[in-house]
Amino acid sequence: MRAAVNAVSDVVANRTRPLREFDQIHMKTGDMVMQSEAIASWSKEKRLAFIGDGDAVSVALAYLKERKVLDFGPTKIMVFDFDERTVNAVKRFADKERLDYLDATLYNVLDPLPDVQKYDCFYTNPPWGASNGGASVNAFVQRGIEAVRYDGEGCVVIADDDELDWPKQVLANVQSYASSRGFYVSRMARKLHGYHLDDAPDLKSCNLFFSSVPGNIVNAEESAPLTNQQSLRNFYGGSKEPRVRYVREMKRPDYGKAPQEEYRLELFDHRSEEA
Ligand SMILES: C[S@@+](CC[C@H](N)C(=O)[O-])C[C@H]1O[C@@H](n2cnc3c(N)ncnc32)[C@H](O)[C@@H]1O
Repeated sequence: MRAAVNAVSDVVANRTRPLREFDQIHMKTGDMVMQSEAIASWSKEKRLAFIGDGDAVSVALAYLKERKVLDFGPTKIMVFDFDERTVNAVKRFADKERLDYLDATLYNVLDPLPDVQKYDCFYTNPPWGASNGGASVNAFVQRGIEAVRYDGEGCVVIADDDELDWPKQVLANVQSYASSRGFYVSRMARKLHGYHLDDAPDLKSCNLFFSSVPGNIVNAEESAPLTNQQSLRNFYGGSKEPRVRYVREMKRPDYGKAPQEEYRLELFDHRSEEA
C-alpha cells in the first residue's frame, strides 16, 4: 500500500491546476489509488481510451504497472483531452518514465473523433451534467462508444448521491442514452470517490460500467457533431456554453514545484530577493 500511495503521489504532483469553469475538479489521492487498482483490473490486457482525464488515472495505471506495484493493467492507453496542459503533462510523464504505451492527444468532444485504431474499452469522468440532465455526460459517452466502435466496454464516473435529485436524473438519462447505442449496465460501484470541491465536499461519484450488447450492430454513422440529445446548453454548469475549443499551455510549467510568481524570499536583513 505504501508503494502504491507513493507512486500515485508522484502522479498527483504532475497534475495540472484545475480550471473550475470547465468542471476540472480533481479526484482525491486515496480514491485515486483505489480507482487505479479497480480500473487496471477491469482493463487488463486491453486497449483503453480516456475521454478527458484531468485526474490522471491514465498515468497512475501506467506508472503503477511500470513500478511493479500492480502486475496487471491495459496494454495501450490513449488520453483525448481539450486541455493542452493535461495532454503535455501526460506526454512528459510518459517520456520521463519511459511509459511507451501511454500517450495523449488534443481533442474536443464537440468535434468528430479522429480516425483512430479501435479501442477495447473507454473511461470517462466528464462534466457531470447537473444543469442539463446529463447531456454533457452523454457527449463524452458517445465519443467513448465511437472509440470502441460500438463493441466493447466503458466506465463512466459520475455523481452519485442519495439526497440530491439531479444525480439520479443524470444516472437514469445516461443509462437510457447508452442503451439507445446498444450498451447495457454491467456493473455499478456506488459512492466511491471524493473530490477537491469546495461547494460540495461530500459529493461522491460512482463507477458505472457498460458493455455492448452481443452482436451490437456497428452503427454506420460517421463520428459526427453532437445531436440535440447531447444539448450543449449548460455544458459546464448553468449558462456555460462550450465556446472554447482548446485550453492552450502558455509556458512549460514544472509541475510539483511552486511557480515563482507564488512566493518571494525575505532575507535575514529584511531585504527581498528575487525568487
Ligand atoms: C470535465 S473534467 C471532470 C472532472 C475530473 N475529476 C477532472 O478533474 O478531470 C474531465 C476532463 O475533461 C476535459 N474536458 C472538458 N471539456 C472537454 C471537451 N469539450 N473536450 C474534451 N475534453 C474536455 C477536462 O480538461 C478534464 O481533463
